[in-house]
Amino acid sequence: MVTGGTGYIGSHTVVELQQSGYEVVIVDNLSNSRADVVDHIEQITGIRPAFEKVDCLDSEGLDAVFRKYPNVKGVIHFAASKAVGESVQKPLMYYRNNLGSLINLLELMPKHGVEGIIFSSSCTVYGQPDVLPVTEAAPIKKAESPYGNTKQVNEEIIQDFVASGAPINAILLRYFNPIGAHPTALIGELPNGVPQNLVPYVTQTAAGIRQQLSVFGNDYDTPDGSCIRDYIYVVDLAKAHVIAMERIFQHKQEKQVEVFNVGTGHGVSVLELVNAFERATGVKLNYRIVGRRAGDIEKIWANPERANKVLGWHADTPLEDILASAWKWQCTLS
Ligand code: UD1
Repeated sequence: MVTGGTGYIGSHTVVELQQSGYEVVIVDNLSNSRADVVDHIEQITGIRPAFEKVDCLDSEGLDAVFRKYPNVKGVIHFAASKAVGESVQKPLMYYRNNLGSLINLLELMPKHGVEGIIFSSSCTVYGQPDVLPVTEAAPIKKAESPYGNTKQVNEEIIQDFVASGAPINAILLRYFNPIGAHPTALIGELPNGVPQNLVPYVTQTAAGIRQQLSVFGNDYDTPDGSCIRDYIYVVDLAKAHVIAMERIFQHKQEKQVEVFNVGTGHGVSVLELVNAFERATGVKLNYRIVGRRAGDIEKIWANPERANKVLGWHADTPLEDILASAWKWQCTLS
């Protein structure tokens, strides 16, 4: 079962799961995605995933899905609200959606013999790390937003539930910054309104939908003054979920709850990303430097050694190829 399976990371993960031989049931309320994503997944893989339009807050609806598909053995839980700014405006909505959905799933898993869950966590749990690259052992810092707090609390909910003796296994994947689109350009990120994240803003500016990209700050303590992130290809990220799911099914876990950073290990600044986009696409980007964005972390990138060694997973797609995929996707939209 893939909750949020018609969303950005979810849809790419459904494709990778199907291509690895898994049968997938998507559960999504379509609050921030479109039903035709299911058609596009089918176009890529040749297999139509089962789709149930159910909100994970609807425990009875979710229970009915588990009853309809008694062979579900694992859950990958993407379904969540994810806009940082909106979470500051509507904190209760974020706590209700993101915490309630997970709690419903966890309650239903043992009842339906579901062995494991993979949870979409975020490097946001580290705040501004004291040591870079950041490892999974780094301290969790106070969340900058209700959205970030839901990731932290959800990690704790899973840990506490397992510690209480629940018969489930879990892998928490802490994503860095997922970008790019499937090479077929049949699925990708569909931002709602004005994009808040860098790459959709870049591609929309290049397409002429936005007039100019604002680079938020060039006075940070980084080589070129702009913020540094670890941008990971969404297809590489999707593959990490397949490997993690297999690890649960094959009982390879060292602990009932395991945590992995999912990043490339390379920090890239905003200005470097803009330059790489121009090189990859040949399109000149209209941008200007503006003031810092409130709440931004100065620099963060992953130490992905644990995922590399323990999962045998690497993110190896070059940045320019990833940005070319994002551009190809944008060109299909506009
Ligand atoms: C943000 C969230 C993070 C969340 C992730 C996924 C914050 C502090 N973090 O990550 O918790 O998991 O989104 O939604 O909000 N930038 C520009 N111009 C733009 C947009 C972005 O210069 O128009 C810069 C930002 O300042 C940042 C970098 O690009 O340095 C990446 O920004 P973004 O894509 O929003 O991701 P994060 O802020 O890293």
